[in-house]
Amino acid sequence: MNFGKIVYFILHSEVKKAMAENKSVAVVMGSDSDLNIMQSCIEQLRQFGIEPIVRVLSAHRTPQQAAEFAENAADNGIKVIIAAAGMAAHLAGAIAARTNLPVIGVPIDNDKSVGGMDALLSTVQMPPGVPVATMAIGKAGAKNAAIFAVEILALSEKKLAEKLAQFKKAQAEKVREKDKNLKT
Ligand code: RP5
Repeated sequence: MNFGKIVYFILHSEVKKAMAENKSVAVVMGSDSDLNIMQSCIEQLRQFGIEPIVRVLSAHRTPQQAAEFAENAADNGIKVIIAAAGMAAHLAGAIAARTNLPVIGVPIDNDKSVGGMDALLSTVQMPPGVPVATMAIGKAGAKNAAIFAVEILALSEKKLAEKLAQFKKAQAEKVREKDKNLKT
């Protein structure tokens, strides 16, 4: 077997492994201090049967590792990347610059001085041609990032589409219950 074939075989088996384990979603964050907020994203993905790849990668502190991760993500079987960061949050944009996979950004409000507005604007204000689907600041955004990733994957995965439909139905039912039980 020549070198090219060996590399192809390794990459191919990595993709197959990722698919078998449903490692199609990566959740990356700028620091482990973001994990507290991103836990709700990870939990939400798990509720849909997705065990994400979770990494700490920083656009500023480990730019090389973040770039390598983004450049190899598609070959590693990842289909959607969720990138969370606080302060001058360049992680989602830096990743989107290096992959054609959909990138979902979560602005983190770790630094209370400006309430996450710094991260929101740094994540959302991408130049034309390099989109980042930016969620709400903090926990709501973290949870929505998981649901949005599922919505993307559900376009081509029937079982996931069914789980998503059930999730939305149950959510609506909870609101109807609250409406019914409301005492004024
Ligand atoms: C960002 O800086 C991280 O995403 C985090 O929200 C913030 C602070 O990081 P630590 O100093 O807590 O590591 O890059």
